[in-house]
Amino acid sequence: LKLFKFAFPNENVRCLSTVGHFGFECFPYQLVNRSLQRGFSFNILCVGETGIGKTTLINTLFNTNLKDSKSSHFHSTVGLKVKIYELQESNVHLKLTVVKTVGFGDQINKEASYLPVVEYIDAQFEAYLQEELKIKRSFFDYHDSRVHVCLYFISPTGHSLKTLDLLTMKSIDSKVNIIPLIAKADTISKSDLQKFKSRIMHELNSSGVQLYQFLEDDDAAAQANTSTSGLLPFAVVGSMEEVKVGKRMVRGRHYPWGVLQVENENHCDFVKLRDVLLCTNMEDLKEKTHSYHYECYRYRKLKTMGFTDVGPDNKPVSFQETYEFKRQEFQDQCQREEEELKQKFMQRVKEKETAFKDAERELQDKFEHLKKVQQEEIMKLEEEKSKLEEEIISFCKMKAASEAPYSQVTNMRKDR
Ligand code: GTP
Repeated sequence: LKLFKFAFPNENVRCLSTVGHFGFECFPYQLVNRSLQRGFSFNILCVGETGIGKTTLINTLFNTNLKDSKSSHFHSTVGLKVKIYELQESNVHLKLTVVKTVGFGDQINKEASYLPVVEYIDAQFEAYLQEELKIKRSFFDYHDSRVHVCLYFISPTGHSLKTLDLLTMKSIDSKVNIIPLIAKADTISKSDLQKFKSRIMHELNSSGVQLYQFLEDDDAAAQANTSTSGLLPFAVVGSMEEVKVGKRMVRGRHYPWGVLQVENENHCDFVKLRDVLLCTNMEDLKEKTHSYHYECYRYRKLKTMGFTDVGPDNKPVSFQETYEFKRQEFQDQCQREEEELKQKFMQRVKEKETAFKDAERELQDKFEHLKKVQQEEIMKLEEEKSKLEEEIISFCKMKAASEAPYSQVTNMRKDR
């Protein structure tokens, strides 16, 4: 077009807009196409007491019936149930991972109830870090199970937060994006709900619990998010039941006094939550998980492993240098341990040797003693033997002497 204008500057040129896209304006379309081909993944952690409505809310959010069995109230410890679902809406594929607490808040001693949740979140970070540190990485088909959002279900007591809730949220707030929800909000009156919400927010703020901060950089999203933040904690109601309201069928809960419409913003904050999770903030939740929470985990982990970016002299240290240093340190330690082991071994050998020598000497002494005793015995016996022999000789002599006169008499008689 420019060339044309240059060639015919005074021509009255009719401009045609292009039908397709050219140049780098196509970049976003490439991204969309690639994302559609690859599909999306989203990992949700639902923390809340047994039967508080976790499954129902997830079903309502994704407008599907994700099969799941009910949990019992008699688990001796808190556990986590992980389910992966493949969902499709028009040509968008979603790999949804839902992790739910089992037996949360059911034990008499709830002191360590939050630990399995913390351990699960850390384990997913650790798995990702291990993949990242591999020589041959395969992120293309790697199932990234890091938790993108934690929906924290608060009991609709209308009173205040439980200690367990505060403790759990405080222990995971630096590891995951927390969005607090008041579950089964249809069980609280409108005025009570407002007071309950402000009490919860006050408690969370005074305990320093960090909640997910809604997007602020995009103008439209920022506007939506400021109104959204004011609604926290979202008062939600879940239901897959179709109820007739006028001529329309809506999802809601039917009560003797009327119908609660799940998707009516005057009845509850379900629509707001769905908008946040699926329409406006899903990518931001994933981004924050990767660039903030995972980064913090990675930093802490590599630091404890001895990796650092700057040395003691404040000069940058490369990964290679740190590795070499660590390897040398490890080799030195191995050598030290080997030396220690050798010395210990030699010491023990010496100890054993002296013990054997002592035992040998003892045996020798015993043997000598016995030999001596035996020789003395033999000498005694020899003496007694010679004494006896002497006695026998003298006896024989005596006998011969006594027999001599008698033989003379008998000989004289024979002569006669
Ligand atoms: P577990 O997985 O067994 O811990 O239960 P859960 O937390 O997934 O609860 P679930 O969704 O199975 O709901 C338990 C019961 O609460 C069911 O009878 C639901 O119909 C009911 N329920 C769920 N959501 C709501 C709600 O918003 N309001 C009311 N009033 N009842 C609800």
